[in-house]
Amino acid sequence: MNLVFLGPPGAGKGTIATIAKEFYDIPHISTGDLFRYNIKNDTVLGKEVKAILASGDLVPDSVTIKMVEDRFTKDDCKNGFILDGFPRTIFQAEALKEMKELDAVVNFILDREEIIKRLSGRRMCKSTGKIYHIIYNPPKIEGIDDETGEALIQREDDKKEAILNRLDVYATQTEPLISYYREKGIIVDIDASKSPEEVFASVKKALAK
Ligand code: AP5
Repeated sequence: MNLVFLGPPGAGKGTIATIAKEFYDIPHISTGDLFRYNIKNDTVLGKEVKAILASGDLVPDSVTIKMVEDRFTKDDCKNGFILDGFPRTIFQAEALKEMKELDAVVNFILDREEIIKRLSGRRMCKSTGKIYHIIYNPPKIEGIDDETGEALIQREDDKKEAILNRLDVYATQTEPLISYYREKGIIVDIDASKSPEEVFASVKKALAK
């Protein structure tokens, strides 16, 4: 199954993709995670995009498209994939059309107030990328990853100013993709305000149709 997870920052795309990738046995390809991996490892790409991610702006289309093209050459994409955070512009969607045919685009819907609560409370493990929330999904010991025992971090772009910029960028550059994919008849709308288990159950039901 070839899937795209679309939706505003903090809607839970990464959280649900972590459950869905096990269920469908397909890889979770998050462009945000790929960029953060490069930043952590101080690669040439990482150096190029570090400040862009911290501000919440988008990385240039050419750089992002090339990274996704490279990722698709890996064997694990043969039976499908979940793209999380790509495409984010109409230009990227047109490029993706040339690479892969999609089965569905899952559109996660969440209001602005809840988005801000989710993003400002998010914490993550720097080495494994595991996501927590200080209220909704706290670790067993405050501030510490359950598996590695490392201190959890807050993403640079989860600070207030960057969150507001990301919401603006989403509204102007990414939201037009909802109409783009609706016209193609492959959008599935999901209420993302429920618990992760309930949200995934809705995704599963919608995709089974
Ligand atoms: P990216 O990493 O893709 O960020 P994003 O789209 O803003 O999405 P997030 O990861 O913030 O949110 P999410 O929807 O995955 O929510 P999560 O599951 O973590 O991109 C980062 C940056 O990289 C971009 O700003 C840009 O610079 C660059 N970039 C990436 N792709 C690009 C592209 N295609 N083109 C150009 N630039 C690109 O959940 C959030 C929080 O809520 C967590 O704490 C979680 O525990 C909690 N939570 C989740 N679900 C629930 C629930 N159901 N109930 C309660 N709490 C929940």
